[in-house]
Amino acid sequence: MKVLVVGNGGREHAIAWKLVQSPQVSLCLCVPGNGGTANLAKCENISLSVEDFAGISELCKDNQVDLVIAGPEVPLSLGITNYLQAENIKVFGPDQVGAQIEASKSWAKALMDEAGVPTALGETFTDAKLAQEYIAQQGAPIVVKADGLAAGKGVIVASTVEEAQNAIAELFELGFEKLVVEEFLVGEEVSVLALTDGITVRPLLPAQDHKRIGEGDTGNNTGGMGVYAPAPIAPTELMEKITQEVLQPTVETLRKRGIDYRGVLYAGLMVNEGKIKILEYNCRFGDPETQAILPLLETPLEEVLLACAEQRLSEFPPLQWKVASSVCVVLASAGYPGAYEKEKVITGIHQAEQQPAVVFHAGTKMQSGQLLTDGGRVLGVTATGGTFTDAIAQVYQAVEKIDFEGKYYRRDIGHRALKH
Ligand code: AMP
Ligand code: GLY
Repeated sequence: MKVLVVGNGGREHAIAWKLVQSPQVSLCLCVPGNGGTANLAKCENISLSVEDFAGISELCKDNQVDLVIAGPEVPLSLGITNYLQAENIKVFGPDQVGAQIEASKSWAKALMDEAGVPTALGETFTDAKLAQEYIAQQGAPIVVKADGLAAGKGVIVASTVEEAQNAIAELFELGFEKLVVEEFLVGEEVSVLALTDGITVRPLLPAQDHKRIGEGDTGNNTGGMGVYAPAPIAPTELMEKITQEVLQPTVETLRKRGIDYRGVLYAGLMVNEGKIKILEYNCRFGDPETQAILPLLETPLEEVLLACAEQRLSEFPPLQWKVASSVCVVLASAGYPGAYEKEKVITGIHQAEQQPAVVFHAGTKMQSGQLLTDGGRVLGVTATGGTFTDAIAQVYQAVEKIDFEGKYYRRDIGHRALKH
């Protein structure tokens, strides 16, 4: 089987890494891929933009690609699936309408209401004054969400009315035309990524991301500084409830609307004393969640993703998992999520991988035979162990072998797993 992975982050490296482990996969093209996928056996990076659908389609035809896996939300929300399907190419990832589940917070909120899934009370606004009046009535803390893809920067959790009202003004000034204002939820977050073929839903192991830059979950929001799986906050009974009360009704509602959603349905949930509320949906694999989840998956990834694309997930055997704990620590550039420098020489990856651990590249590039930093999140280091204590010890030993100027990472990834 020949596959093509769209994207260039740690998530796409993890997907490609898992795909090429299968003897059934003879070729994995990565568009554009990164310094990590460049070094994988059977993998080839192709320097095309993720938005160059015509180029990707031609590449698929020239290489007889059997399945395209779209990693990031941007090409999905621009309709990569519609484009390739029209050319008879199979894609894992929802079409442009389905991708609105992530691309439009107001669309997603309306869908949640229609599906009857538990979520925060909220309202959608197109007028700043009305939104500000609503906030004054509701009081703080309160959450403001931009209606549109904002690379993780569109959500403001405001602790005062003034902060929320300023956020409203700023987001409208930035050009967003719609905002969602919603109730602040307390609890512990969990990411539940499910594979779906538009009818059947198969959740992956639950994962917990660490979104803030600082230890103890302080400071600015980031794309994710580390993650672990399976998250003990979501044991089997809770996963069953999430499947029955959130994932399944959501897919049924999409279907009722005529949306053929074949890809990942990612539910970001707040758990509080066993009660769940949905914070957001994403239309793709999580990053860094994927870097912790896929090392535990034993089922060949290409088989189950193809089953989704061909809408025969109900016939597919149950997913098989290693009974182990997995922890991924993100190494970032100094300054991230604000401004940071690039092109710092990275050393020690080989030594880290002796630990044993696997090093996923998120923002790296090869230049004149040297591996250089090329992004805010640079690497994701994952280790698995019999317990979280083991996995955490292993992962940090590996992390310490790696060096680049300005290397920053959180030292407390997995702290909540230890508490449970
Ligand atoms: P979202 O992109 O909607 O997941 O929001 C990003 C982050 O903001 C989430 O991971 C939460 O940490 C936080 N957040 C979003 N909505 C809420 C809410 N209603 N209450 C509390 N925190 C929230
Ligand atoms: N880890 C958060 C996300 O993928 O959106």
